[in-house]
Amino acid sequence: MPYTGIGRPDYQSLLSDSDLGSDEGTLSDVRTLPPAPTTTFKEQITRWSTIIIIICTLVDAIIIGYLLEHSYVDADLAVHDLEYKSAFIGFDKLYKNKSFSKTKYEPIQNNPRILTQVSFREPEKVFPIWPAMHPTYVGYAVGAERRLLVNRDTSTIAQFRVLDWGMENCTLTLSFDEPKVGVSNVHISNTIGKPITLDVWKLKAQKKIDFSRLSWTTKAPRDHYVGSMVAAFGSTYQLPSFACASGSYQTFEVTCSQPNCEVDTTTLEWENSNLYIMQSQTV
Ligand SMILES: *[C@@H]1O[C@H](CO)[C@@H](O)[C@H](O)[C@H]1NC(C)=O
Ligand SMILES: *[C@@H]1O[C@H](CO)[C@@H](O)[C@H](O)[C@H]1NC(C)=O
Repeated sequence: MPYTGIGRPDYQSLLSDSDLGSDEGTLSDVRTLPPAPTTTFKEQITRWSTIIIIICTLVDAIIIGYLLEHSYVDADLAVHDLEYKSAFIGFDKLYKNKSFSKTKYEPIQNNPRILTQVSFREPEKVFPIWPAMHPTYVGYAVGAERRLLVNRDTSTIAQFRVLDWGMENCTLTLSFDEPKVGVSNVHISNTIGKPITLDVWKLKAQKKIDFSRLSWTTKAPRDHYVGSMVAAFGSTYQLPSFACASGSYQTFEVTCSQPNCEVDTTTLEWENSNLYIMQSQTV
């Protein structure tokens, strides 16, 4: 190939084949050529546009590559960690006014939405939250089943979100009806046949539990021992009341107190649970 002018201030047009005597065009041949016309404005524009487009393409590719590498999928976003906005705006100011006439409200019953289990023997096991689906006229739906299952290996986890505002005196309650005739899957016993004692622990869970991942290994550690409750048919047992902020999560683990104990009861209505919190008025 002939010398093309690389390294010289201006480009020169290539020699056409007819101008070349042989393949071995020498530097002296080129030097004898008439000076090449300077690049036109149009060519300058084309050249610089091409350079700019290439640079932009490279920058875009780098940015896209970076985003693909560093962006994360929304599934990992901890939505339950997001702050709750209180719906009770201005209630605190209103109730601070001593001349404001207050209404007396009856205590309210706060049932856990879900009662589920964890097992010491099977630390990885996630118990099914809704074991049974029921046919309804619009399709299958979960039933209002809450199972309180406590035995040597298994404890029950209950999480409550404190309802309403100014009902911030909570009392954990364990209550059993007399067993109904023909209802199976209701069982409270120990080897000596006496009412049995269950221990209640407060868990260090300030946030909503992800029940689809709850197992012995993933549950929050115990914070402190709350007290023990007696389980017997036809009886209601309450632990000492405690202060519970509106909207806060209260999470408990119920375990057996003695080695030989077995509680297995299931309630079937949304408004019924064997374990619940009574909230009474504090304003
Ligand atoms: C307190 O309530 C009374 C009667 O409801 C009202 O007249 C008064 O302005 C209120 N005071 C304040 C500081 O809001
Ligand atoms: C909380 O409620 C219980 C009854 O449910 C009551 O005995 C207790 O005095 C109340 N505590 C406070 C601080 O209001």
